[in-house]
Amino acid sequence: MEQQNHDKVFFVNFSVVIGILAGIAFVIAAVARLVIPSLPAPDADQMAALNNRIKPVTQVFTDPAALLKATAKPARAAMGGEEVVTKVCSACHGTGVLNAPKIGDAAAWGERSKSQGGLDGLTKKAIAGINSMPARGGDPDLSDDEMHAAVEFMLKKSGG
Ligand code: HEC
Repeated sequence: MEQQNHDKVFFVNFSVVIGILAGIAFVIAAVARLVIPSLPAPDADQMAALNNRIKPVTQVFTDPAALLKATAKPARAAMGGEEVVTKVCSACHGTGVLNAPKIGDAAAWGERSKSQGGLDGLTKKAIAGINSMPARGGDPDLSDDEMHAAVEFMLKKSGG
C-alpha cells in the first residue's frame, strides 16, 4: 500500500514538472516568433547562388551527344595578333626563353623569315611547333588565323 502511494506521488509530481517544462518551451517558442523578424523570400540572384552551392559535384552522362554539349568550350571572339602575343607568345618570345627569337630582334627574325619562306612559312612552323617551341605556343585553343596574326605582329615588331 505504502509502495503504491509513492508511485502515485511520483507520477503526479513528474507530470507537473513535464507540464511546466512544456509550458516554458511553448512560451519561448512563441516569444521567439514575435522577436525574430520574418525573413524576406530569396530573390532570383540568391536562389541562383544557392542552387549553385548545392549543385551535384559531378554528373554522369550516358548519352555521348549530351556529354559533348556539356563539355564544349564556349565560343570566344577571335583575338588579334597583339592580344595573342601578349597572352601566350611573349612568355617566351618577350625575353628569349629557351632561345626563342626575341620580339624586336630584327636579325634573328629576318634570318628565320628568309629560311622559312616569310610570314606564311613561319606561321606553319609556329602552328606545328619546332624544337622547344610547342605547337601553337602551347595553347591548342588558338586558331590558325590567330597564329597567323600573332606571327605577323611579332614580325612587324621585329622590323619584318
Ligand atoms: C614555351 C615557349 C614558347 C612560346 C609560349 C612560344 N614560342 Fe615560339 N618559339 C619558341 C622557341 C624556343 C623557338 C625557337 C625554336 C627553334 O628554332 O629551335 C620559337 C620559334 C618561333 C618561331 C620561328 C619558327 C621558325 O621556323 O624559325 C615562330 C614563328 C614562333 N615561335 C611563333 C610563336 C607564336 C606565334 C607564339 C604564340 C602563339 C609562340 N611562338 C609562343 C618558344 C616559344
